[in-house]
Amino acid sequence: MSDQLLGSEPQRRSILQTIGGVGGLALFSSAASGTTADSDDCAPGASRRPDYRLPELPYAYDALEPHIDARIMELHHGKHHQSYVDSANAAVEELEEMRSNGDFETIRATKRDLSFNLSGHVNHTVFWASMSPNGGGTPDGALATAIENQFGSFEAFRAEFTATATAVEGGGWAMLFYEPLADALVIGQVEDQNELAHQGATPLLPLDVWEHAYYLQYENDREAYVDAWWNVVDWTAVGQRYEILTELRCGLNQETGDTGSTTAGSDTTTDTDTDTDTTAKDADHSN
Ligand SMILES: [Fe+2]
Repeated sequence: MSDQLLGSEPQRRSILQTIGGVGGLALFSSAASGTTADSDDCAPGASRRPDYRLPELPYAYDALEPHIDARIMELHHGKHHQSYVDSANAAVEELEEMRSNGDFETIRATKRDLSFNLSGHVNHTVFWASMSPNGGGTPDGALATAIENQFGSFEAFRAEFTATATAVEGGGWAMLFYEPLADALVIGQVEDQNELAHQGATPLLPLDVWEHAYYLQYENDREAYVDAWWNVVDWTAVGQRYEILTELRCGLNQETGDTGSTTAGSDTTTDTDTDTDTTAKDADHSN
């Protein structure tokens, strides 16, 4: 991963805090886990007991107005996202208790709690980092090229993403994923926080369409909310995320000697020259 691509250390840290990884390689760092990242975090076997914490927003609660009002942001971040964090940590503690006393009778519900709430934490962490008061417009660079190659045009991509977001049944997300096996962009229709997600794919651009994300301002007009949201998309951040993931993928292929080969499970050829139980849902049913 080039320093040029990642920019300054704060920028590098911000980017790494808001992306996942390639093929299951997780890169979430301090913002997602709430721990302080240092060089020891990169040592083999450094993984430790999770302690998830709410990340600070990179802008004020009223910064996205008039598209998303301050009260929505305050409740969404401070209450809803906090609830996912708290519930994920509670599930981690329950699992530790089970291991220590050898009683796994309630493990099914706890595993569901962890999956749902940790997914909610991850989704929201990337969501906040994908918006900006200076957002809107269209992407440029490698992401723009990839969107044009795979969807035909930005307009076609936006139409599919908007239709996906509008059609989510109940609470959920529209998400642009980076899918590393085929080096592809995929628009997912994620129900709740974790249903219909794509294994191994990393969220590049999530749009929360749970009613808690828009009802106070748009009532039941989800389409109006989605239309307004395009004005706050931080394409610079999304484009950086995309470039890092594609570069990581190529780097991993080089390490494994898989450079330039046809990717397993797809017809895509790798280009190494790229520069570039209801209990679980208790945390968030206020919509
Ligand atoms: Fe949400």
